[in-house]
Amino acid sequence: MNLVLMGLPGAGKGTQAEKIVDKYGIPHISTGDMFRAAMKDETELGLKAKSFMDKGELVPDEVTIGIVHERLSKEDCKRGFLLDGFPRTVPQADALEGILFDLGKKLDYVINVQVDKDILMERLTGRRICKSCGATYHLVFNPPAQSDVCDRCGGELYQRADDNEATVNNRLEVNIKQSQPLLDFYGAKGYLKDVDGQQDIQKVFLDLDVLLSTLK
Ligand code: AP5
Ligand code: ZN
Repeated sequence: MNLVLMGLPGAGKGTQAEKIVDKYGIPHISTGDMFRAAMKDETELGLKAKSFMDKGELVPDEVTIGIVHERLSKEDCKRGFLLDGFPRTVPQADALEGILFDLGKKLDYVINVQVDKDILMERLTGRRICKSCGATYHLVFNPPAQSDVCDRCGGELYQRADDNEATVNNRLEVNIKQSQPLLDFYGAKGYLKDVDGQQDIQKVFLDLDVLLSTLK
């Protein structure tokens, strides 16, 4: 299955992606995670991405498209993929069409996780992530059994640098502006499936699972 997961920052893309890849065994391709890994390794890509991510701005299309093209060409994507946070602009969506055409692939669904923007600030500022395995928690909505310790692997939890109030405000503004043209683009192509992201985490996954089981 070839999937795109869309949704505003904090909609629950990463949380649901973890569950989808666990169940369906397809690679999880998150452009945000790729940029954060590059930042940690202090590569040229990481330094470039950091200057945009710290402000909550989008990394330029040509940089982002390049890393996705490279990743989708890898062997493990032959059995399918889950793109999380890409595409985020119409030029990125156009480029993805070209990349998939070259690779002889086609999207199955573009899933839009819908959440009212008013609840996203609380979701993002309360998020904590495991340093070792990347699992995502929330201090209130999905708390770890022991504070600051990952339930899965015992790793230490941290807060993302862009999850502070000022940067979240800008991320929301930037992404709200970009998302409607993208929804129109995929709506016109017939790929778009909406999922209610305001239900509890398990229920959102149940809805996704029902949708994805039609592809098996
Ligand atoms: P990226 O890493 O993609 O971040 P984002 O889009 O801002 O999305 P998030 O990861 O913050 O949210 P999420 O939807 O995954 O939510 P989560 O599941 O964690 O991008 C970061 C930056 O990289 C961008 O700002 C940009 O600079 C750059 N970038 C990335 N891709 C790019 C692209 N294509 N083009 C250009 N630049 C790009 O959930 C959030 C919290 O809510 C968690 O604490 C979770 O536990 C909780 N939660 C989840 N679901 C529920 C629920 N149903 N109920 C209650 N709580 C919930
Ligand atoms: Zn962990």
